[in-house]
Amino acid sequence: MNTESSQFYRQAGSQRDRFAVESAPPDNAFYMTDTTERLPTVEKLIHDLTARFEDADLCYGHGTDNPRDESAWLVFATLGLSHEDAPGVYARRVARDQVDLVNAIARRRIEERVPLAYLLKQAWFAGLEFYVDDRVLVPRSPIAELIEQRFAPWIAASAVRIVADLGTGCGCIAIAIAEAFPAARVDAVDLSEDALAVTAINVERHGLAKRVRLVRSDFFRELGGKKYDIIVSNPPYVDQRDLREMPDEYRHEPVLGLAAGADGLDSVRKILQDASRFLTDNGILVCEVGNSQAALEQAFPDVGFIWLEFEQGGAGVFLLTKQDLTAFETR
Ligand SMILES: C[S@@+](CC[C@H](N)C(=O)[O-])C[C@H]1O[C@@H](n2cnc3c(N)ncnc32)[C@H](O)[C@@H]1O
Repeated sequence: MNTESSQFYRQAGSQRDRFAVESAPPDNAFYMTDTTERLPTVEKLIHDLTARFEDADLCYGHGTDNPRDESAWLVFATLGLSHEDAPGVYARRVARDQVDLVNAIARRRIEERVPLAYLLKQAWFAGLEFYVDDRVLVPRSPIAELIEQRFAPWIAASAVRIVADLGTGCGCIAIAIAEAFPAARVDAVDLSEDALAVTAINVERHGLAKRVRLVRSDFFRELGGKKYDIIVSNPPYVDQRDLREMPDEYRHEPVLGLAAGADGLDSVRKILQDASRFLTDNGILVCEVGNSQAALEQAFPDVGFIWLEFEQGGAGVFLLTKQDLTAFETR
């Protein structure tokens, strides 16, 4: 498995930055000396958790990529601290009930291998916070970077009026696009009613009900004759072998969000088949296939996929124009 571009190991990037802890804990600052109850500092709690996570040999990829950042995220989120509070809060003592809460969450992270995002019901994408639970994949698509750049240089921002996000999950792509293009409307499409229930929570939280529409559909099926300036998708693209071999953490995610047949191309085939009919004349399709990129290129050798590059990491995202897609269909 190509871990760099894999669906499994992709970083959303933002938690990693958000919870990066720079300084090592001073050894003598851990315990109070003037009470009978010895309460750890924030720093000590993070330090001890890091050691436990290291020993447990966890798999990362749902927001952070190392045990120290994962520990910092757990402690900060549980104590209600924000990144802006650091580093001033590291010397703060943590109350016993809060320590117990942190330890209870850490235990589930270690023993059940539940992604921390699910335990905390929290994830970030394109600098925005989202509610997540195990009805949706934890956001980690490199498409976040493209949205933050407003799809430059591929389409003029002023030309973006209506967008479809196919396989919206928690709604992260649809919502980030609506935030990046304040005049645009977005159709957030998913086959899973469970996923759409989570999308609805996030649309409500971000106050976007007027511009983000939820559509239950098998990709394009229920979209009628609509035309979109951008169709974007992070569909399922994990092949059978990767699905069999994936680390336990990923088994907590909905299989409908991951599995895409023997070669990982079942979903992207459907999208390629129909996309041109749903694009405006200057419209673009942006689609992630992760480490199924090689299989896709092999299956469609005549299609001129433009593979996008990302400064913040990630790969396996292609772009096609309406013209590219029409040429492919008429062959
Ligand atoms: C890889 S997840 C992506 C979720 C979200 N867009 C993200 O980037 O985190 C794929 C999503 O596609 C949905 N899905 C799977 N098959 C679908 C289909 N045939 N039509 C529409 N959505 C589908 C899944 O329910 C899941 O939410």
